[in-house]
Amino acid sequence: MRSLKVRIFLIILLVGVIPALILRAGIVANYEKRAINQRETVVQNQMKILANHLITYNYLTDTSSPVINAELEMLTNLYDGRVLIINKSYVVVKDTYGISEGKIAISEEVSRSFKGESISNYVEADEANRDGYIEMTIPIMETRLVPAMESDSGKEEEVTDVKGVMLISFSAESITVIKDLLLRKSTILEVLLIIAIVGVAAFLAVILARPFNKVTNAIIDVKEGRRSDALPVSDYVETTHIIDAFNQLLERERILNESRQEFVANVSHELKTPLTSMKVLADSLLEMGDADPELYKEFLSDIAKEIDRENSIITDLLALVKMDKTANEPNISKVKINDLLEIILKRLRPIARKMDVEVMLECHREVEAEVDEVKMSLIISNLVENAIKYNKEHGHVNVSLDADHQHFTLEVKDTGIGIPKESLGHIYERFYRVDKSHSREIGGTGLGLAITKNAISMHRGTIKVTSEENVGTTVLVSIPLIYVKKDQ
Ligand SMILES: Nc1ncnc2c1ncn2[C@@H]1O[C@H](COP(=O)(O)OP(=O)(O)OP(=O)(O)O)[C@@H](O)[C@H]1O
Ligand SMILES: [Mg+2]
Repeated sequence: MRSLKVRIFLIILLVGVIPALILRAGIVANYEKRAINQRETVVQNQMKILANHLITYNYLTDTSSPVINAELEMLTNLYDGRVLIINKSYVVVKDTYGISEGKIAISEEVSRSFKGESISNYVEADEANRDGYIEMTIPIMETRLVPAMESDSGKEEEVTDVKGVMLISFSAESITVIKDLLLRKSTILEVLLIIAIVGVAAFLAVILARPFNKVTNAIIDVKEGRRSDALPVSDYVETTHIIDAFNQLLERERILNESRQEFVANVSHELKTPLTSMKVLADSLLEMGDADPELYKEFLSDIAKEIDRENSIITDLLALVKMDKTANEPNISKVKINDLLEIILKRLRPIARKMDVEVMLECHREVEAEVDEVKMSLIISNLVENAIKYNKEHGHVNVSLDADHQHFTLEVKDTGIGIPKESLGHIYERFYRVDKSHSREIGGTGLGLAITKNAISMHRGTIKVTSEENVGTTVLVSIPLIYVKKDQ
């Protein structure tokens, strides 16, 4: 895994050091080229003047001219060099070092110069020649005036003859010395620059990575329980995104925790209530000693009711837990919803009759859907049970089934007591019951709709409840005909 700090450090280092290196090489190379060019031009000009003098004094045939010799000496001293003067027969007539006089000097450069070319070569310093030198060959030219070719006009034209070649080599020591100095100085400068860049890079890497460290530390604090509130807002957009996401996670965790605590509290309370009643009933019986057997019977039947209640609460709770656990693997099959409705209503009708409520079923079409049959039964029976339970005398419950090409809809409409507006948002909460005292009479644990909603969302369906107090309640459930897995 790569570290952000190291990455920032390397990037700044590269961005800083590479231009510094290029700049240094460029400056030194540029200096050398310019200095050599300049020196060559100056020497070439001087030598051209000298070449003219050589012609004037006829030096190529007679090298005794003191003026030229003095001039030659001055130049060679000035540039720390050597001059060879070669005549047309490639014979060295003058060598300022006095070594090669009378010898033949043929080289490519000399022959080219005999054709009128001036040539210059810079031989860079190496191990054999410490300072480097510049070698130049310059033609010694004589210009004469001759009658023009079409000479009737009497015009004359200039003709140049190469009479000899001058070979000059002079040391580039001063240039090499300055170049070395420049190299040394720029190396020192570069080292200092690199040290500075490394420092700046390290500093920036630490500074730029600091917000990330802060976020990490804050998250560790939360993990180890040193803080539980939201993390402070950061100054960077990137870290702000992380912090926002983390704070949302924290909030979700908090809400989850709260609802879990509330759930546990509710469960304990609900489970305790029937137990308390049983205890009171049993204690009263014990205190009475030899009470009327009828009274015993009545109390025991009350105790039995409480046991049933406890049992139904535990059954509901288990259903809920099971649904949470198996949320991802429902047992899907093709189910004829019409048949399922018939079966469930047949089971519920005796209860409805007891409460003087009429239950009607209206199927607009045959519906076959991919559902979990057990869960679908739970949904239907919970809704119809509620519509019966929270109804009035001579009330009605209308169950209707319809479908389009994607969903089937199940409507359970009653003419019951209705749900107050402020309670509508809470009816799916576990253990929520609208009017505690009234609901107690009716009986129930407040888990039915929680289970129903859970089962509906497992089928990717929706549930909508509309209600008016003392008029009635309508529950509309819509479920896809074809089961869709969540992550498809
Ligand atoms: N059709 C309805 N008419 C009026 N009130 C209703 C209706 N359906 C639900 N309620 C209200 O919503 C509350 C929650 O319903 P839910 O089915 O979750 O619990 P319950 O019926 O009290 O208990 P159980 O767990 O036995 O179903 C009910 O207590 C009731 O107050
Ligand atoms: Mg219910």
